[in-house]
Amino acid sequence: MISLKDKDIISILDFTKEEILYILEISGKMEKEDRHGILSGKILANLFFEPSTRTRLSFEAAMKRLGGEVIGFDDLGTTSTVKGESLRDSVKIIEGYCDIIVLRHFLEGASRLTADSVNIPVINAGDGASQHPTQTFVDLYTIQKSKGEIENLSIGFLGDLKYGRTAHSLAYALAHFNADMYFISPPSLRMPKDYLEELELKKVSFQEVNSISEVSDKLDILYCTRIQKERFAEPVEYEKVRGLYKLSKSVMDELNVKDGLKILHPLPRVDEMDESLDSTEYAVYFQQAHSGVPVREALLASVLGVIQ
Ligand code: CP
Repeated sequence: MISLKDKDIISILDFTKEEILYILEISGKMEKEDRHGILSGKILANLFFEPSTRTRLSFEAAMKRLGGEVIGFDDLGTTSTVKGESLRDSVKIIEGYCDIIVLRHFLEGASRLTADSVNIPVINAGDGASQHPTQTFVDLYTIQKSKGEIENLSIGFLGDLKYGRTAHSLAYALAHFNADMYFISPPSLRMPKDYLEELELKKVSFQEVNSISEVSDKLDILYCTRIQKERFAEPVEYEKVRGLYKLSKSVMDELNVKDGLKILHPLPRVDEMDESLDSTEYAVYFQQAHSGVPVREALLASVLGVIQ
């Protein structure tokens, strides 16, 4: 029997295929059924050291829809971090105020450090350019709903694969599902070597290309990502790749694509995906963002042990 009670959610690599499928199944139930009250008396601390719209608010909505309460911050300038308090000290204090911590941080490894420092479950809501595992559950749920399955699909990852933490986590997760992966990016924004080595170890079939036209006819899913301006050390390096990929309805009309292709994007978007795409049959990114609530309900309820 699968139980995720008290499990930290730090890396998608910490999850078996069975655990991933279990979370997707619970997410489906959360979407269909009203479970208000199952987290009554529980408190979530939402600790956001980096900006967020979807992740923070969908965790908050999920907790409140299940009857729980939320504390936290979304501006580290209002916290004692500015007085020099370490992350380790902060979270050791905060664990006394809540039952579960959701942490977004600009440093890779911040969630692991937090999980190692406290005795309550910790959920990684994005750590630097490393991973964003709860987004991956949202992405897989969206793929399953829009394609009817997750197994044996061809997925194109487009854009900033160097800094795009959602792409890193999703590629690892799809390694369980016999996916063919196409990494579409300029050479300077390729998927980092250690991720490719892990995929090779898992015997995943992948190919790196520069342009979508090279592989568009193969894809069941196109996973578009924003170029992560905030992670570039030098602004001039960002300017070299800014606006390199611009998907629009007219671009899609020119491409040779498979029937049923779906476009996902973790959002926010900047200029890589035009609004003209929004009303096409390809677009599922708004449904994807809305699925953040039932998926995060499933994660919170499972980790807090009210669903086993
Ligand atoms: N997808 C995602 O992580 O969005 P936010 O940065 O708005 O949370």
